[in-house]
Amino acid sequence: MIVTIDGPSGAGKSTVAKKLAQTLGFRYLDTGAMYRVLVLSAIRAEIRWENEEALVENCRNTEFHVEGDSIWLGDENVSNEIRHPEISKQIWHVADHVRIRELMVERQRSIASFGNYVCEGRDQGTVVFPKAERKVFLTASANERAKRRQVELAEKGVDLSLVEIEEEQNERDLHDYNRPVGRLVKADDAVEVVTDGMSFEQVVHELVMIVRGSR
Ligand code: C5P
Repeated sequence: MIVTIDGPSGAGKSTVAKKLAQTLGFRYLDTGAMYRVLVLSAIRAEIRWENEEALVENCRNTEFHVEGDSIWLGDENVSNEIRHPEISKQIWHVADHVRIRELMVERQRSIASFGNYVCEGRDQGTVVFPKAERKVFLTASANERAKRRQVELAEKGVDLSLVEIEEEQNERDLHDYNRPVGRLVKADDAVEVVTDGMSFEQVVHELVMIVRGSR
């Protein structure tokens, strides 16, 4: 069974998707981490963002693997490094690229082809797994999302003002909602959950109900 969770950045998808997978005994696929690791490897290889061919090649050649909420570049665990704001800032160079997305979609389908998965991202219910058994569109107001992100980053030792976070969030939203392929949109058959004012436990409970067909 595939459960997809899509939504804008800062809606709390990752923590909720992880807990949902754990509760259901499913595996968890963080597709954002896959785009992030490509940015990291491009930066390390000193590829210029205008060099699209090199970015596609980098996508083909980058050896990474994902396991739960961890991601390895080669044999180095880069799970923390990929969360750095600089990676978020540059993400559109790979995430807006049609051919890179095609390669990533292929890889995501192949990863989730065996077993039960909670797949989280922007295009999971629309492009990657249009026939997923359960689909959730998880969202929250822009202000709520920015506040949550500030707390999340502070826990990782990154201190940013709400204004800086909102700027980055607006920029990412703009790309996420407008990219030519894989743009962020609620699938017609997804259940929308707006999490403003809901606790983490309430959101997870709501999603468990949706997966079990009680919502
Ligand atoms: O989910 P997360 O914020 O880690 O994702 C990082 C970025 O990767 C997002 O801002 C989005 O632009 C991109 N992304 C995407 N498609 C996905 C997952 C993430 O374009 N399925």
